[in-house]
Amino acid sequence: LFAGPVDFVKGVVAMPGLPPADRLEVCFAGRSNVGKSSLINALTGRKSLARASNTPGRTQEINYFALGDQRYMVDLPGYGYAEAPLAIVQKWQALLKSYLSGRQTLRRAFVLIDTRHGVKAVDEEILQLLDRSAVTFQAVLTKADKVSRAERDAIIDQVRSALSKHPAAYPELVVTSSEKGDGIETLRAIIATLE
Ligand code: GTP
Ligand code: MG
Repeated sequence: LFAGPVDFVKGVVAMPGLPPADRLEVCFAGRSNVGKSSLINALTGRKSLARASNTPGRTQEINYFALGDQRYMVDLPGYGYAEAPLAIVQKWQALLKSYLSGRQTLRRAFVLIDTRHGVKAVDEEILQLLDRSAVTFQAVLTKADKVSRAERDAIIDQVRSALSKHPAAYPELVVTSSEKGDGIETLRAIIATLE
């Protein structure tokens, strides 16, 4: 699936702008700056398909990418913190929540968690929204290259215990580094085999 063409479809700023719900999709959610756009670039092997940046709040739209004509990957705006005016942030946060709770064809939400920080209160809010919306989510630890093995293992325990309280959580998490490539092949296989 990832060997074929990957195309940017569109950036969506309001729910009516979503593409027709005619195929399975997965999305990447997580705190601002956690590495969502970088992960999409690593998965597709395209360095700047999704815009990544040091500035939290870089992605301000719902960005659709097509894997061939079979499925969509969706890059979401971050939550929790952004270097943008409050009114604008509130607008895209509302869009994020509408999307996560109201997209019929959303098959799995990957919720990205920074391996240095673990699950935070703002993440819990999103996880609860996904529970209520009955959207299966899977935790993806990001930036694993930035921590020692011991730190990573401690965070894995914290994340596992947080997930155990959520009915919509998929039990296995994936540890990744977009920088070094860890976990990328695993995540590709998960996305390719979803039905
Ligand atoms: P928003 O769109 O602002 O919510 O951010 P995002 O979650 O899309 O994060 P983005 O991919 O833009 O990455 C944020 C910063 O983290 C960038 O400076 C990336 O280079 C860096 N980064 C992302 N993934 C990794 C990783 O695996 N390892 C390291 N060391 N840095 C990473
Ligand atoms: Mg982004």
